[in-house]
Amino acid sequence: FAIEKPANDPFLGYMPGSAEREELKKELERQSSQVVKIPLIINGEEIYTEKTVKVTMPHDHSHVIAECCMAGEKELKLAIETALAAKEEWENLPWEHRSAIFLKAADRITGSYRKVLNASSMLGQSKTVFQAEIDIAELADFLRFGVWSAQEIFKQQPLSVNGIWNRQDYRPLEGFVCAISPFNFTSIGGNLPSAPAIVGNVALWKPATTAVLSNYYYMKLLMECGLPKGVINFIPSAGPDVSKYVLSDPRLSGFHFTGSTGVFQGVWKRVGENIANYHCYPRLVGETGGKDFIFAHNTADIDPLCAAIVRGAFEYQGQKCSACSRVFIPKSIWPVTEKKIKELVATIKVGDVQEFDTFMGAVIDKASFETCKGFIDRAKASPDCEIIAGGTYDGSKGWFIQPTVILCKSPHYESMVTEIFGPIVSIYVYDDDAFDETLRICDTASPYALTGAVFAQDRQVIAKMEKALRNASGNFYINDKCTGAVVGQQPFGGARASGTNDKAGTTLNMLRWLSAHAVKEAF
Ligand code: ALA
Repeated sequence: FAIEKPANDPFLGYMPGSAEREELKKELERQSSQVVKIPLIINGEEIYTEKTVKVTMPHDHSHVIAECCMAGEKELKLAIETALAAKEEWENLPWEHRSAIFLKAADRITGSYRKVLNASSMLGQSKTVFQAEIDIAELADFLRFGVWSAQEIFKQQPLSVNGIWNRQDYRPLEGFVCAISPFNFTSIGGNLPSAPAIVGNVALWKPATTAVLSNYYYMKLLMECGLPKGVINFIPSAGPDVSKYVLSDPRLSGFHFTGSTGVFQGVWKRVGENIANYHCYPRLVGETGGKDFIFAHNTADIDPLCAAIVRGAFEYQGQKCSACSRVFIPKSIWPVTEKKIKELVATIKVGDVQEFDTFMGAVIDKASFETCKGFIDRAKASPDCEIIAGGTYDGSKGWFIQPTVILCKSPHYESMVTEIFGPIVSIYVYDDDAFDETLRICDTASPYALTGAVFAQDRQVIAKMEKALRNASGNFYINDKCTGAVVGQQPFGGARASGTNDKAGTTLNMLRWLSAHAVKEAF
C-alpha cells in the first residue's frame, strides 16, 4: 500500500455570522477568562514544578492567561532518560503505526482542536484570526507531508542485484533529538519535535515560553492521539539549563531549531566544544534569522508590488522569519509607489486581535517592543533616513508598534541590514541606471539568505534578477510577496546566516533524522 501525496488543508473564512466565527468567539472568551497551569509532560506524566513563569497576552500585557512550569536540572535529566527508555519500542513500531498517530493528530488539529489552537495563538501570540488559521493549517500540513516524506524514504528500492544484492535502508539516529522552537509559529513549534519522531526518533521539546499555551495544547493533542509515553517530552525551560544538561549530554544525536542566529551559533559552539564526548556527530538543523527583501525593477506592476510590501512587512507584525524588511525601488517609479504604500498603510487597523477586522496585533513581548522602539527612535534622530509612515508606539496596555516605513538614503543604513523582527520596513530608492550595482548590494549587504522577491514584467530582467540573487535566499518569489510558503509547494528554509536550509516538511529534512545503512550481500 502507499498513501498519496497529501493536499494542503483549506482555510476557513470566519465571515461574520459563520458557525466557525461564533465557536471561536466562545473559545476566546473561555480561554481569556482562565489561567491555565501548564505542566511539563515527561514520560506522558504531567509534572508541576515550583519554578513557573507567567504567560500574558501581548496586546494586553497585564492579562495573565497561563502559568507555565519550568524544567530544571532534575526534570531535564529525567526527560533524557525517559526518551531513551521509550526509544527501542518506538523505533521498532512499523512506520505506518507511528504515522497513524500523526495523521490522526493532523485531522484533529483541523477538527475538534481547531478553535482551541486558534484561540490560544490569538491570545498568547497576538495572532489575528487569519494568521492563526494559516498557522494551524500549516501544522496539519507538516504532519501529513512529514508522513508522506517518510514513506518516500522508506520505500527506497535495492541499489543493485547483479550477482550481489546491494541495498540501503535508513535507521533513526541513536540517542535523542532536542527540539527548540520559536514563538512565531505554532506549526514550527509542533513540527520541530514531530518530524524526527515520525521517522522513529525520540525527542525533548523546549517551546518558547511566549508561545507555550498553543504548544501545550498541541502536546496534549498528541498524547490523546496515542503518542506513546516518552517519545516526545515537553520541557519548557531556560536556555542555559538546556545547554548545560541537554545539549552537552553524550547521547544527543540531533538538534532541530528555529530561532535566532545568535542562539544557533551558540549551540553550534557548545556542540563543537563538546564534540569528542558525543557517541556520534549530532545533526544540527537550524532555521535562523532573515533580512528578507523585495527588489523592484522599473517594469514592475505597482499595485501587486505595494500589496506585497505591505502584507509581507506587516502581517503578524513583521514577526515571520520570512517578513519583508528591506525594499529596493527604482527612482522612476518611486513617486507612485510611495503614494500607494502610504495609502495601504493608512488602512491598517492595529489593536486587539479578538476584534476580527484587526490586521495587526501587538509584538510578542517587552524586549521586542524595546528593540522596535530603538530602531524607530534612532531613525527619527538620523539624518540618513526619514520615517514616511507610522513611527509611533504605545506599550501602556499592549506592545503596540504602528506599521512603520523608513526611507533610507543608504542601502547600508542599520535598518536596511539588521534583522528587527517587528513591523518596520526599510526602503532604499536607487537610480534606475544603478540597477546592476544595486542587485549586487542586495545580495551582499546582509549576511542572511532566507526569502526574497523580485518584481518586474520584462522577462530578460526577471531572469537576470534570479541569477544575480541566486544565493541571496532559500525561497525566491517572482512577482509575489516573500512570505507565506506552503508546505509541499514552496519548501521553506534559508542559507548563509539564515540556516542549514533543510526545508521543513520534506524528505530532505526527514533524512537529517535518519542514518543510512548500506548492506552488501554476496550470493
Ligand atoms: N513559512 C513561513 C512563511 O513562508 C515562515 O511565511
